[in-house]
Amino acid sequence: MPVAIALDGPAGAGKSSIAKRAAKILDFIYVDTGALYRTIGLAASRNNVEPKTSPEIDKLLSQITVDLTFNDKNEQIVLLNGEDVSGLIRTPEASMMASAISAVPSVRAYLLDLQRNMAKSHNVIMDGRDIGTVVLPDAKVKIFLTASVQARAERRYKELCEKGINVQYDDVLNDVITRDYNDSHRETAPLKPADGCVIVDTTELDFEQSVEKIISVIKENI
Ligand code: DC
Repeated sequence: MPVAIALDGPAGAGKSSIAKRAAKILDFIYVDTGALYRTIGLAASRNNVEPKTSPEIDKLLSQITVDLTFNDKNEQIVLLNGEDVSGLIRTPEASMMASAISAVPSVRAYLLDLQRNMAKSHNVIMDGRDIGTVVLPDAKVKIFLTASVQARAERRYKELCEKGINVQYDDVLNDVITRDYNDSHRETAPLKPADGCVIVDTTELDFEQSVEKIISVIKENI
């Protein structure tokens, strides 16, 4: 049976880059579930659907397809109606839209099987907010990766600047604070540490130290 590692935590804790590297070292598939919520957020923006209008969102969900696939480097590609939108979903606007739309229960239900099916067919490190609590509660290892709000905002700011996206640090900090609040206060599948998870705080760790820590937690528990 494939092995599943659930990796949850707030925005900007470094989950995706750390998990990507750890997955490569361990020869697991890295699944970024935030990309799925971002893709539905993009579909909603394109169709002028407000993230809070449930009936319209249900209609939208019945009209779109969202698929996950991997390129020859095992990098995740996310398809909206067959179109590769992996790059388009990375803007600050897409982040806020994803956070808002991820609070809608029908959106979460819509993405559940897609996520579970990935774990049925591959050894995965799956990154998200509710992987250990809802999507894969029986995951072999559950990790909650976190860091201080300031450390997370600084990392996200640097990452966006490196990509040439023009942003102000204060806006990034406010986005992180708002998303933390939204993600942990929604009614359905709020962000919280899963029962039996290992909490890893990376505030004082650099990237390589964080990867080492995650790999040692995984190896100790599988
Ligand atoms: O991980 P990310 O920043 O790409 O996620 C974008 C948004 O999607 C985030 O604000 C919360 C939501 N999300 C979620 O609710 N559940 C997940 N499993 C993954 C992401």
